[in-house]
Amino acid sequence: VTEKRSNHGQNYDLRDEIKAYWSMRAAGFDLSPWHDIVSEEERRAWQALIIKHLGSGEGRRALDLASGTGIISLLMDDVGFQVTGMDWSENMLELARAKAKKQGRTINFMLGDAENTMEPDASFDVIINRHLVWTLVDPRAAFAEWFRLLKPGGRVLIIDGFFVGSFWHEKLAQKLITMLEKMQIMQPNEDYEDAKDRKTFNSILSRVYFSHGSTAAEVGQLLEQVGFLPAKIDQDLQAIYRIKAKKIGWLDSLAYSDKRRFALVAQKPDG
Ligand SMILES: C[S@@+](CC[C@H](N)C(=O)[O-])C[C@H]1O[C@@H](n2cnc3c(N)ncnc32)[C@H](O)[C@@H]1O
Repeated sequence: VTEKRSNHGQNYDLRDEIKAYWSMRAAGFDLSPWHDIVSEEERRAWQALIIKHLGSGEGRRALDLASGTGIISLLMDDVGFQVTGMDWSENMLELARAKAKKQGRTINFMLGDAENTMEPDASFDVIINRHLVWTLVDPRAAFAEWFRLLKPGGRVLIIDGFFVGSFWHEKLAQKLITMLEKMQIMQPNEDYEDAKDRKTFNSILSRVYFSHGSTAAEVGQLLEQVGFLPAKIDQDLQAIYRIKAKKIGWLDSLAYSDKRRFALVAQKPDG
């Protein structure tokens, strides 16, 4: 499925569809506890994950790709990076900018494509992204682009998971939730897409590179192919998701419990 960057135009429709989908979800994005940070305890756990893999910022330049409503950009700012957030959805950028302004942060949010950023070579110390890789049209081209953007010795931190389809126990919990919502025993989660949106998204997912689901091992291999040193895979995100689960409730947590979440860090060789 890999396409060359020069073929960008060929898949333009798919990229447009992905962009339109996330633009449509922007207004409700932070309403989902799976997206937003639900407590100070969770915030500290995310900050610890970032520091563990990237070190503290100390004014170094960070690029948050697919920054969405700015959740990760704000965390990077918390730990001392000088942050640029990039997303291709204006709706998302608007929300991120408003949030940063309200909190008095100086984060530069820019419109751009994570596969082709137009930023200069070796201009960032670190790159981070959460929940971007699983929907990339051409991850190999994207990773080559990130390699180009990093300074020698720079690192990329990818946070993602296996979000295509659900395992049986998740499906069972999801059915139970739908039933309880219909019986008005449970409040519907305000962010969840309706059946039509879900259909649109499933159609998109069937055409992206990781249509079979993204795994840390496969992502690591592709990173190595474009020149990164062997990636370190961290599958121990339970600390974060256990904290989230306390707020989300056991049934909702069960419905999204097996997403094989991972953090993966890879370094560009030192010169
Ligand atoms: C699931 S959201 C994640 C947002 C944010 N990273 C977070 O974790 O809260 C996916 C975001 O990726 C953006 N996106 C997807 N593909 C992109 C690309 N190729 N270039 C820039 N943004 C992209 C979408 O517009 C959307 O804002």
